Amino acid sequence: MCGPKDPKARGTKLEAASHPARLLLPSPPLSVTLATRHHRSASDPTVPSRPTSLSRAAARRGREDEELPFLQALHAKPARFLFPSLKAYELPSSTTLLTTALLLFLLFASQLILIPRLAPYFRQPIQPPLFCPAPVSNPFLQQLYCRAPDHRVGTLYGSSQNSMALAAAAERVAAEFEYSAQDVNRGVQEFMREMDEGLGKQGATMSQIPTYVTAVPNGTEKGLYMAVDLGGTNFRVCSIQLHGNSTFSLTQSKVKIPQELMVAKTSKELFAFLAKQIETFLKTHHNDHYVNHVEKRRRKGSLFEGTHDEEVFHLGFTFSFPVQQSGINKGTLIRWTKGFDIKDTIGKDVCALLQKEIDALDLPVKVAALVNDTVGTLMARSYTSPGKTGTLLGAIFGTGTNGAYVEKLARVTKLKKVGAGKQDVDDSTGEMIINTEWGSFDNHLSVLPNTPYDKSLDAESNNPGIQMFEKRVSGMFLGEILRRALVGLIKDPSVPLFSDEHSNQNDVHSTTNIHDNSPLWSQWALDTSFLSIASADNTAGLKNTRQTLDSDYGVSAPSAEDAEAVRLIASAVGKRAARLSAVAIAAVILSTGKLQHPTDIATTNNATLEVNEDEVVDVGVDGSLVEFYPNFEEFIREALREVEGIGKEGERRVRIGIAKDGSGVGAALIALVADRAMRASSSPNASSAAAGAGGLAGFFTQFLSDLNRNLRVRV
Ligand code: GLC
Repeated sequence: MCGPKDPKARGTKLEAASHPARLLLPSPPLSVTLATRHHRSASDPTVPSRPTSLSRAAARRGREDEELPFLQALHAKPARFLFPSLKAYELPSSTTLLTTALLLFLLFASQLILIPRLAPYFRQPIQPPLFCPAPVSNPFLQQLYCRAPDHRVGTLYGSSQNSMALAAAAERVAAEFEYSAQDVNRGVQEFMREMDEGLGKQGATMSQIPTYVTAVPNGTEKGLYMAVDLGGTNFRVCSIQLHGNSTFSLTQSKVKIPQELMVAKTSKELFAFLAKQIETFLKTHHNDHYVNHVEKRRRKGSLFEGTHDEEVFHLGFTFSFPVQQSGINKGTLIRWTKGFDIKDTIGKDVCALLQKEIDALDLPVKVAALVNDTVGTLMARSYTSPGKTGTLLGAIFGTGTNGAYVEKLARVTKLKKVGAGKQDVDDSTGEMIINTEWGSFDNHLSVLPNTPYDKSLDAESNNPGIQMFEKRVSGMFLGEILRRALVGLIKDPSVPLFSDEHSNQNDVHSTTNIHDNSPLWSQWALDTSFLSIASADNTAGLKNTRQTLDSDYGVSAPSAEDAEAVRLIASAVGKRAARLSAVAIAAVILSTGKLQHPTDIATTNNATLEVNEDEVVDVGVDGSLVEFYPNFEEFIREALREVEGIGKEGERRVRIGIAKDGSGVGAALIALVADRAMRASSSPNASSAAAGAGGLAGFFTQFLSDLNRNLRVRV
């Protein structure tokens, strides 16, 4: 392993090769000596680590003179000794020739053939340095400093009393976000308990919602399927064209949800807006189809009368809020989250609400499936993940956070209690995808951390006491947590944050000043993307962070020390979120017993990171946080390693992969499943068609192999 990776060793070989004449020295053992000497001198601490070629040559000459008296003689009389005659030059010994050829060959092979081939076997995940000089004794803070990108830790603080006060205050606040290994383990135990509770009864903290996703598409359907996605700030509409040979294409459009509709007086306002977007999409992308339908309808006088089933779009509705699902296209809203708040939607069937507005516009669209974005992510990831292993968990770490996983049907004991009959549940698979709604994990705060910033954020939110896990993990809230922490420091007269104390270091203006209309003074106005900017900043003097504070947050001319303090706290908030995310992932892995499965036994060979395909626990993720927050996955992994029952061995077997746009693609795929199920149930052989799945594994295998053809995405 050392060979191809050790730059010193490589340097030695290259150096020797770049002086072929020296390799033609009479006796082969001398070449070996040369290489050894070069290798040793390359590790001489007096030699600079990255010398220029000139200084390298000079250093080499110096060392040769010093270490190899024999070579001194060579340098003294080079021509006469090395090339006493033309004959000697033309006829080196055959051993020398052979050695040279062998060395050249090895060099060539290692550079061009071996290194690229072996590289994957030696590749380690990119690990930030574990040790670095940090001016603190708290390991949590030390890691935050050490994980900071290329930037000499603490160097931006000066030695004045004010500087030290700022550094100490920033470290004190950052330390409040510490979430220790012990906390992680306690969190996992409680999470597993709440998962079990949610499977057994309605109204538990964690909803554990059965999704009824069971049927299998066979890939021969023709026609257009649609998906819409409501779950955050945007509404997406897409259509999926099945070509009848298991190939399909996807078209999509996106529109921002107007703020006033998120808190509209009536559901109608929001759902009418959604239906309107569907209409616009149809007119833009499927105008012929739309016009044909409208004309036909005018002739017949009724929406579906005379309309063949294949002329109606079957739509998968990704609705990423807690819903009590009672069938594949039926579900009542439990509560709004993520800033939505429309009172009269609670308890209503959201599919029916959307269908009503679609019908009001006479659109040829049937809401066929109700899908949570995590379920879409799970489906999409399972489709795209490498190898044969099915995906265990689909998780979102974006505006909100949630996960859906594959559960044993026998463990979903509340299904019987809610009176789900045989007609609703296909038990032939023995498994069902469960939407955990883990955003509401530990609403009673038995194990979750609760800083003063968490407390005030919750108290001033529109749903106090609810979604407590989400409020510590997801993108909707992290910016606000940071804002509250910063405002706390700004208001503390003993802390010189943004106080113009260091204006001599400002290169933008001369006076540090927080504008009266700075977003720092407004609730929700600090965007979580700022955490990523600050945590990833590796510019000199943290210029990016300072410029963003100046241009976006109304802080003119913040100093480098201010930015250093802001970054430390931002990193602490982000790291705690990642470690909490690990709690959820670990609990799902442990409670499903995935690591204990006989075919999942880990390799005991620590020397390699290779994991057999069968041993992989696949997790699909999506969302801005996991995609853009620096080191988010690495922080998750670090915490997974600390979980009893997972450890280093288990963590290596967890494969985390992005399932981009899973909520759109996944919903379209489930609409297809639902359509097929609907057709099957209306045919005489309905039950056998539904039962022919062969388990959820069979469902995925069949489903994914049907679709594993030619996904073409047009945006
Ligand atoms: C919120 C919603 C949940 C969704 C998640 C991610 O937690 O309640 O349904 O899956 O956000 O978008």
